[in-house]
Amino acid sequence: MVDQHDDNLRPEDAAWRNIKETGRLGRRRVLLLDTTDSTNNAAMALGIAGEPAGTIVAAETQTSGRGRLGRVWQSPAGTGLYFSIILKPQLDAADLAKITLAAGVAACKAVEDETSLSPLIKWPNDLMLGNKKFGGILTETGAIKEKGATLVILGIGVNVATTMQMLPEELQDKATSLALETGIFFRRGELLAAMVGQIEAAVMKLEGGRFSAILQEFEQRDAIKGLQLRWLTPAGQIVTGVSVGLDRDGTLHIRDDEGQVHQVLSGDVTFSA
Ligand code: BTN
Repeated sequence: MVDQHDDNLRPEDAAWRNIKETGRLGRRRVLLLDTTDSTNNAAMALGIAGEPAGTIVAAETQTSGRGRLGRVWQSPAGTGLYFSIILKPQLDAADLAKITLAAGVAACKAVEDETSLSPLIKWPNDLMLGNKKFGGILTETGAIKEKGATLVILGIGVNVATTMQMLPEELQDKATSLALETGIFFRRGELLAAMVGQIEAAVMKLEGGRFSAILQEFEQRDAIKGLQLRWLTPAGQIVTGVSVGLDRDGTLHIRDDEGQVHQVLSGDVTFSA
């Protein structure tokens, strides 16, 4: 059982200095909000208003934190990491989905560096410990008038010291936190510093055309390869089959019970018994 505790993101921490000063773009601007509807919204508004790439918006709590497919992201105060990074990558539109995969690898590497845990990624954006989700990634794009660049808001939520009591009943067998898995309260500032460092490195790899290296790292952390899955297609059909992994573009392939291989471009994938 994990008790509540009073860690906050403490801007006076040494970790905070690392977050601010190790950016490849120079000094990173970090905005720490007590509360906001969604750090993705706050970062998007800033990005559209001309805020440079590299700025990070973090919040102690979010009143309308959201995930993929319109889901709610529970954001209890002071126990999780809820942050968004403004990116303006030099990438073709067709390659933007790769940012989510690259961020998943980056987030896992940061957790591996900061804890004894070995998280996995459930394609495309769920961060998993065993069968339970402890984090997620929400990538959204916006239009800006800078030549050749797209505004990308990369939002990450991580349950750091979240307790079961803080989560709604329907999530209690599906969700976990770093503290629930280890009994340790990891400092969110240090995790945030590790994550933004890994994310920047991953975005640089992508911009440098090295997605194949990211794919290899993804494969080592793939939570679903070889497993029986249920895919709810965007058209509302259910396909059951086994994940045969990702292709060179990062698209998931599922072999259904009749042997037909489907490209999963969107929709929802769940474990099936
Ligand atoms: C998912 O699980 O589908 C993605 C969850 C992403 C949650 C993070 S928390 C910070 C940022 N702000 C949001 O509203 N969502 C992301």
